[in-house]
Amino acid sequence: MTVERYRIAAIPGDGVGPEVLDAGRRVLDAVGGRAGFAIQWQEIVAGGAGIDAYGAAIREEDVTVCAEADAVYLGAVGGPKWDDPDASVRPEQALFVLRGGLDLYANLRPVSVEPSLVRSSPLRPELLEGVDIVIVRELTGGLYFGQRQEGSQERGARAAHDTLPYTEQQIERVVRAAFELARGRRRQLTSVDKANVLATSRLWRKIVEEVATDFPGVTFEHRLVDAAAMMLIKRPASFDVIVTENVFGDILSDEASVLAGSLGMLPSASLGTRRTAHGTFGLYEPIHGSAPHLAGQDRANPIGTILSGAMLLRWSLGREAEAAAIEGAVRRALEDGLRTSDLARDDPRSEGGELQVVGTRAFAEAVVHRLTFEPPRHPTAAPQPEAEAIR
Ligand code: IPM
Ligand code: MG
Repeated sequence: MTVERYRIAAIPGDGVGPEVLDAGRRVLDAVGGRAGFAIQWQEIVAGGAGIDAYGAAIREEDVTVCAEADAVYLGAVGGPKWDDPDASVRPEQALFVLRGGLDLYANLRPVSVEPSLVRSSPLRPELLEGVDIVIVRELTGGLYFGQRQEGSQERGARAAHDTLPYTEQQIERVVRAAFELARGRRRQLTSVDKANVLATSRLWRKIVEEVATDFPGVTFEHRLVDAAAMMLIKRPASFDVIVTENVFGDILSDEASVLAGSLGMLPSASLGTRRTAHGTFGLYEPIHGSAPHLAGQDRANPIGTILSGAMLLRWSLGREAEAAAIEGAVRRALEDGLRTSDLARDDPRSEGGELQVVGTRAFAEAVVHRLTFEPPRHPTAAPQPEAEAIR
């Protein structure tokens, strides 16, 4: 049997980034060993670590390595060491160079609630029943990429400004991706904007209406972001796919992580248009940041990163069965009572010794030990080739 080889660029980054990425790599390597593929890791120093090593958040040659890989797997970047508001280089630039430079416009952030984690969320259990959302965050436009000015003066006072640009094409492609995704799920799309204030949101709404005509089977609604933020807590199970611009998606996804029990739970895939030999090129990272207060203590929750690895297998390597195997193993580890400290904190069962609090590494090991390669209990639909591989 020939062993399939994949090239994955690994960017550990800063804070807990290296620890959670180690955990994720450990799981992917184990899956490869069992399923008969090998990963050639190309490690890249970027973020604050890149600033320290090279004076840049990410070097151009490293962006090229990422662009030529089958996928990019990233921990987290940033930290107080590089937080000087007057600094000209910032760790987060590595993210923007990759997201923008590799045109990774569709950022998928799935949010579901493991039944065994209902008590880790501050919400009432009945609100969490049936929660299964994918937030599709536009990732290459808006405030993150608009022109900004810092250190200016207006009538003798300090001033600054940011701008929020969007083009028709940028909106159209991400909205289309979200409709395609919704079509393969419960066929409900919520487009979130602030059309009562923002010009870009009014354009966004028009384009959603236009794209919707290509998806007659999908029910869609517009919601203003403030109301959507409230509904996400009040009636989270009413959402299927949410599509929104960059900043709104950033904020709503942290909010949604409360449903899942911890910010550490949520994975993400950032997809563009480039096809690789095996699937769609993408960058995979947990939605959480570098959590400097936890760094180096083996306490970070690696689940968001491990589940990002599952998304990597599914989207970039076309390995659905192996992706499902990881998701199943994470579920079983949680069902068996294993928790990182963030998940145990608010769960009353941790008092009674029903839960076992473990570190980052031990949790990854627990997942590895629970990998089984039976067909998934709820098989997901096969990728639709015509659907730009967004599912
Ligand atoms: C995220 C993060 C980043 C973002 C930060 C680290 C710049 O919060 O991926 O959600 O705002 O996009
Ligand atoms: Mg964020």
